[in-house]
Amino acid sequence: MAAVKIDGTAVAADVRSAVAAAVSTLPGQPCLAVVLVGEDPASEVYVRNKVKMTQAAGMVSIHHRLPADATQGEVESLIERLNADPDVDGILLQLPLPKGLDADAAIEKIDPDKDVDGLTEVSAGRLSLGKPGLRPCTPVGSVILAKRALGEDLSGKHVVVIGRSILVGKPAALLFLAENCTVTIAHSRTANLAEVCRGADILVPAVGRPEMVRGDWVKPGAAVIDVGINRVPAPEKGEGKTKLVGDAHYESCAEVAGFITPVPGGVGPMTIACLLRNTVLAACARRGWAVPAGL
Ligand SMILES: NC(=O)c1ccc[n+]([C@@H]2O[C@H](COP(=O)([O-])OP(=O)(O)OC[C@H]3O[C@@H](n4cnc5c(N)ncnc54)[C@H](OP(=O)(O)O)[C@@H]3O)[C@@H](O)[C@H]2O)c1
Repeated sequence: MAAVKIDGTAVAADVRSAVAAAVSTLPGQPCLAVVLVGEDPASEVYVRNKVKMTQAAGMVSIHHRLPADATQGEVESLIERLNADPDVDGILLQLPLPKGLDADAAIEKIDPDKDVDGLTEVSAGRLSLGKPGLRPCTPVGSVILAKRALGEDLSGKHVVVIGRSILVGKPAALLFLAENCTVTIAHSRTANLAEVCRGADILVPAVGRPEMVRGDWVKPGAAVIDVGINRVPAPEKGEGKTKLVGDAHYESCAEVAGFITPVPGGVGPMTIACLLRNTVLAACARRGWAVPAGL
């Protein structure tokens, strides 16, 4: 059996189109402010993409740049200014911050109602209590992809999330729980990991270990939603070349699974799409607009 490949690039494009359609029906334009501190080249690329896609969805994009030697106070006072700005609906602090800055403390300054990354303690609390709030983007993207594979109703499915990070594993587990799944969270101390994974209808590796999950860890017909992104040497492409692989070994898992996301082109592209969706949801909640259908 060969698994159906879940095309995250195409699903992300659908989500962005739905966001653009929703924005066009709103009485005003949502606004996302992105804060970039320093000159990390990867972060520059991410921020450029976020700005471009925010504008393409019909929203206002504000881009604030601080120098690499900015102080904690300067970062936090910029965030506080954006909190107080009634025109700003979403605030995204691009991570990582330069050495010497405390990212957790800076994130905590973000108004939870503008926390489009879903990373503040209040957002995490709202998620775990099942209260309305902004949810972390990559985990939301993982749930959307699982629904594309298995249908809107995931209730009763056994989900195994491998990884318990604040950014991915824990919120992914809570989001699947909110979909009435039966959720197991596995981690580095889990005994018999392969056997635990074989119980999963939906397997969500979020570890950061290249190709750790092998085909014989996968239940026949299961959906593998691979969050991992790992850069590994690719001598077959030439000396010194690299490539991206997931936490699942694609070929062997695809032989057993019913559905699988590739890396790249799976969960990765969903993150920005869900960020745009969160910006619209934040704008609607803040400004008292009805959430447009289709979001
Ligand atoms: N846009 C995207 O698609 C996106 C976004 C974010 C992250 N990612 C990727 O997702 C992966 C995870 O990111 P993260 O931020 O969650 O990483 P992280 O903070 O390093 O967490 C990794 C988790 O994996 C667990 N783990 C480590 N080794 C393990 C093993 N041998 N067996 C089972 N569990 C193990 C750890 O368990 P302990 O808690 O026990 O140490 C930890 O909970 C990375 O590859 C990252 O690049 C992708």
